[in-house]
Order: sequence, then C-alpha cells, then structure tokens
Amino acid sequence: MAARLVQRCCWRHLATFTCSPAAATAALLLPSGKASAARALPHPPPASIHTSVPSTWNADRFSVKEQVEENSNSEHRVILNLIEAATSPQELFQLGELHSLNSNQASLVVTRLSRLAVEKKLETGDILQDERFQQLIEIVDSQISQVWNNTLVGLLKSLYSLGMESSSREMQSVEHEVLWRLRRLSFRQLASLAEFLAVKQGKESKLLSEVIKKLELRWTELEGTRTVVMLIAKVGHISSVLMDRLEDKALELAEQFSPEDIRRITLALAYQNRRSVPLLRAMSYHLIQKHSELNLSILMDLIFAYGKLNFHQPQVFQKIATDLQPHVSAMTPIEVTRCIRSFALLKWLSLPLFEAISQYALDNAKQLSISHLCNIILSFARLNFQPSGSEDFFNMAHEELQGQLDSLEPQLLTDLVWSLCVLQQAKPPYLQRVLAPDFHAVIQGDSSPKAQNLRMKLIQINAAAKLESPEYQGPFLPAGMLNAAEPAAEKVTLLQSSLQEALAGVLGSQDNGRWDVHTIYGWQIDAEMVLNSENKPLPLKDFAAPHLPHSEGTKPLPPGARRVAFLRWEFPNFSNRSKELLGRYAMARRHIQAAGFLVVDVPHYEFLELKLERQRAAYLRDKLHKVVAKELAS
Ligand SMILES: *[C@@H]1O[C@H](CO)[C@@H](O)[C@H](O)[C@H]1NC(C)=O
Ligand SMILES: *[C@@H]1O[C@H](CO)[C@@H](O)[C@H](O)[C@H]1NC(C)=O
Ligand SMILES: *[C@@H]1O[C@H](CO)[C@@H](O)[C@H](O)[C@H]1NC(C)=O
Ligand SMILES: *[C@@H]1O[C@H](CO)[C@@H](O)[C@H](O)[C@H]1NC(C)=O
Repeated sequence: MAARLVQRCCWRHLATFTCSPAAATAALLLPSGKASAARALPHPPPASIHTSVPSTWNADRFSVKEQVEENSNSEHRVILNLIEAATSPQELFQLGELHSLNSNQASLVVTRLSRLAVEKKLETGDILQDERFQQLIEIVDSQISQVWNNTLVGLLKSLYSLGMESSSREMQSVEHEVLWRLRRLSFRQLASLAEFLAVKQGKESKLLSEVIKKLELRWTELEGTRTVVMLIAKVGHISSVLMDRLEDKALELAEQFSPEDIRRITLALAYQNRRSVPLLRAMSYHLIQKHSELNLSILMDLIFAYGKLNFHQPQVFQKIATDLQPHVSAMTPIEVTRCIRSFALLKWLSLPLFEAISQYALDNAKQLSISHLCNIILSFARLNFQPSGSEDFFNMAHEELQGQLDSLEPQLLTDLVWSLCVLQQAKPPYLQRVLAPDFHAVIQGDSSPKAQNLRMKLIQINAAAKLESPEYQGPFLPAGMLNAAEPAAEKVTLLQSSLQEALAGVLGSQDNGRWDVHTIYGWQIDAEMVLNSENKPLPLKDFAAPHLPHSEGTKPLPPGARRVAFLRWEFPNFSNRSKELLGRYAMARRHIQAAGFLVVDVPHYEFLELKLERQRAAYLRDKLHKVVAKELAS
C-alpha cells in the first residue's frame, strides 16, 4: 500500500517534468544548467582515482569529467579492481563490509552481482534477500544523485535483472533518478536503455515510453550501424515515429550493412509488417552487389521476410534460390517447409530448387510430418509445379497421406485436396472425403471470409470431380451450394475495361455475349459467346447454359455451334513474373475447357501492348480464328 502510494507520487511528480508537454518544452528551452538547478544540484562524487582503469570500466565510457575525477583517486581504483575481479557474491559482499563504499561503488557492486548471477546462473532471490545487499542498496539510495550516469543506467538494468520488485521504494528511487537524468544521458545510453527495457519489460514500461520520446526528439544524434540495427530490431515495434527515423537512417547507412545487419533489419520489418520499399530496395541492391556467400540461416530468414512483406526482388530471389539449393539435402523438414512456403508466397518458381525439394521429400519421407508434406504439396500446387519424378513423388505422398486425412483440420484438408486437384492427383478417396455432406455441413450458413473461401475451394474441387475425374462416382455438392456468393467487386482494371470495349465490337450486339459470368465451377469467365458453324456470333439468351447456376434458356446449341470463353490474364495470375499461370489459374483454364468452351486467352503482356481499339479487336478476332482452327484440326 505504502509502496504503491510512493510509486504514484513519484510518477505524478515526474509527470510535471517529463510527461506534460508544456513542461517538457519549457525544460527543453532552458539551458541545461538552469533546468537542473530546479532541484538540488548533484555534487560531484568524492574526488577520486588514478590514471589507468581496468578495461571493462573503460568500455563503460565515462564522461570526460567523470574520468578525470576518477583518475585522481587510487583507492577508488583499487576498489574497482576488486569489484571487477570478484568471482562470487560472497567476495562482493565482503568488499562492502571491509570498505566504506560510496554510492557509485555500491552501484558497481550491484552491477557486478547481477552479472555474476547471470554468468553462474545463481539464485537471485538469495542475493536480494541478503542483508548486505540491502545495505548496498541503502548506500545507493542515500546518495543516488551522485551516481554517475553510466553507472546509474547499469544499476537500473542490474536491479531489473536481479528481479527486484519494481514497486519497492529503492527501485522507484533509481527509476526516478534515471527519469530525471534522461535528458543528460548520451544517445547511446538512451538507446541501450531502450533496448533493455523493450526486451525485459515491453510496451507497458512507462520509463521506456519516456526514453523513446527522448530518442525521437534526439534522433539527429543517431549514428553507427550497430545502434541503428539494434534499435530497429529491438525497439522499433514500440514507436512508429521512431521507426520512421530509423528507416531513414538505415537508408543512409545501407551500404555499410553486413549480411547479418540486413537479416536483422529485414526480419524486423517483416515482423512489424513495415513494407519499407526504399530501404528494402537499397538493402537488396547491396546484398547483390557485395555479399557473395550467405549462410543458410541468413538465406532462410531473408526469403521468409521478403515473403511476409510480399516484396519482389528477382535478383535476390534468384540468388537465394541458387545459394539454397546445395543446402537442401542437409536441411531439416521445418527449414525446407519454411523455404518452400516463402517461395510459393512470392510466386517464385525456381525449377532446380523445387526439384531438390521434391527429391528431399522422397529421401526423407519418414521424417516428414503430414503437415510438412501438405505444405510442400500446397506450394507445388500454387506454382503449378510438377516434379520431374512426378509418379514417385505422388506415390510416396499418397502412401503417407493414406489414413491420415482424418487427422487434418478441415481447412488444411480442403487446401490439400484442392492442391491435389490442381496437380491432377486427387483420387476418389480424397474427393469423397471433402465432398461428403457431413464435411460441408459445418460451414453451412457461415458467411465469414474464411468459410466463403473454403466454400469456393469446395466448389472448385467439385468441378474437378465432375470434369476431370471420370472414375469418381460421388458424392457431389448439392446444386444449391454451387451458387457461391459473388466476390466483392474489385476495381476494374485497364485490361478488363479495354477487353470489354474491344470485345463489344467483335460481338456486334450485346445479345451475342455474356459478361463476368460466374459459373457453377467456381470460376469466373470474363466473356462468353456462342459461334455458329460459320463462326458467326449467335444471341445466346435462349440456349441452355449448363455452366450457370440458373439458366434462362433451354434450347440446345445448333449443330456445329461452339461456346467460347474469353479469359483475361492479369499480371498477378502468373508466377515468376513470367508467362506461366499459377496453379489456380491453370486449373481454372482446364476446367473451363473441360466444360465445353474454346478458350481465348487474353494475357496482359500482349493485349495492353496494342494501343488502338481497332488493333485490339483485330487481335481478338485473330485469336478466335486460331482457336477455332485448332479445334477443327484436332
Ligand atoms: C552525466 O551527468 C551529468 C550531470 O549529472 C551531465 O552534466 C553529463 O553531461 C552527463 N554525461 C553524459 C555523458 O551524458
Ligand atoms: C551465419 O552467419 C551469421 C553472421 O554472418 C552468424 O551469426 C550465424 O551464426 C551464421 N549461421 C550459421 C548457421 O552458420
Ligand atoms: C523463374 O525464375 C528463375 C530465375 O529467373 C528461373 O530459374 C526459373 O526457371 C523461372 N521459372 C519459370 C517457370 O519461368
Ligand atoms: C486473374 O487475376 C485477377 C486478379 O487477381 C482476377 O480478377 C481474374 O479473375 C484472374 N483471371 C482469371 C481468368 O481467373
């Protein structure tokens, strides 16, 4: 109770200085001497020391003033040496009994204690409860304003590490003192404090938010790749304002980053979901330019991060795929799965890498869990990759999957069967499993995006069962389920509008075509038409349309007539930024053909090259003739 009261008072007291914006600005405007005059000026520590200090203490970077003072006292130096040399808490406690320590020295003893506790994995409770520890803390507490900045920061970290109650009065007093001094700490000290607090205490730490405010204000002092990388990796997620600054700085420093730096930054960006394009570009550039050898863990983290951020950098992917390939046989199943999923996400099909992974799966079939195997199959399907040893691979897969289907979550099972459909490997037992009424009963009436996605996949599996699996006898989805909710209208693309425009001319009359047709197969057709035996478009309203959930017409097509589907292929429909369709679209195309359509492909890379509507209409007519001629010849 009392402790809490003190705590509250403390924070309120602080707030007037550090939290209220007006007070903070006022404090900032004062010269630092005046600001500190607002309270008792800390007295310099009792004159000290000698010339050389043990190296560890040097590393602590005392301010020049501090060092001068320190150097004038040899007794202090002796004590420092003793503290540094101590190898057990007992030795340190004895030191406290033999010498009358000042608050600085007592702080250093506490810091050394916490370091020893970590190094020797000691029980910190024993240390905290030791009477002599309490005495040290009292010394510190009584003269806290005289503890040097760096020692103070170390002290605070040590007390946290030792597990000192944050509500205890002594802890509060140290925190309080640190808060008082924040403005006078060096940027580096602030950064290291921020790192510590972010890792140990997380977002809720009030002190951390104060430290971060200071870092934000003083970001121009930010320098050195180490600090930048550390702050991005450990602190950036807590303040997006700070992260903006850090990214700017990182962009300046990108050329100096090591592969390890690049890894840490890219991962941090991925975890924070910050798709910082200029920075990612710069780091990719330097990665390609300079760093010839990247080790496995860096390669895997990089591809994971690029995948998570959906950031495309063909040269980097090429390099990662090439560098990874020789490692594959020695990787663990988790590593392999993680890599292939990232490449699949990025739509990047490197044939040698995927072949190596297919071989890996064959060689390690027994070590792969079902979920690893599923992930590999899902990735193959996404990129429409058929391993060259396809038969061996799928024999193995069917054998491993047999009897395991019931153990899979409905979502994963659906994705697996759908993927096998893409790869034309879905045998009847798979189809039966997901098309059975009890399986889809679960999502009946569920309108969540997840359920809708699942429903759409089931409809497409149903189409595969109908159109591509003559040996499959059912069950099929009920007709009522095939009228899936229309996907929300996306923005009309340039390809879409220019195709419609050009096609209107080819069709002659609106009655001769149907647009944006949602089929019972779960696929959408951009435009369909019916050609008579002389290749003239016919009005199609009256004809039966078995591909529609509700067909107005009933007339059969006249003899020699053909249905034609126009499919528009946008940039995202392809893998690898090349001309290979992703598995999903390859299956769509196959199904639409199997449903009795001649398919006219309208890929963006051809159609958008044509600038005039006249050229585009000519292109469509020409394609139409070729498709019909090919059909007649076959
Ligand atoms: C340490 O604190 C003193 C006042 O206690 C301040 O004047 C000095 O600038 C600080 N040193 C550093 C390195 O920030
Ligand atoms: C990869 O290299 C980084 C430094 O470049 C190193 O920290 C890491 O331990 C290395 N990992 C492996 C698996 O060799
Ligand atoms: C994808 O790109 C990589 C690298 O450019 C290449 O090795 C691979 O063959 C490409 N795959 C396809 C299907 O084009
Ligand atoms: C190609 O992808 C776009 C956007 O992702 C989609 O709207 C379109 O329907 C796809 N094309 C086909 C024929 O499925």
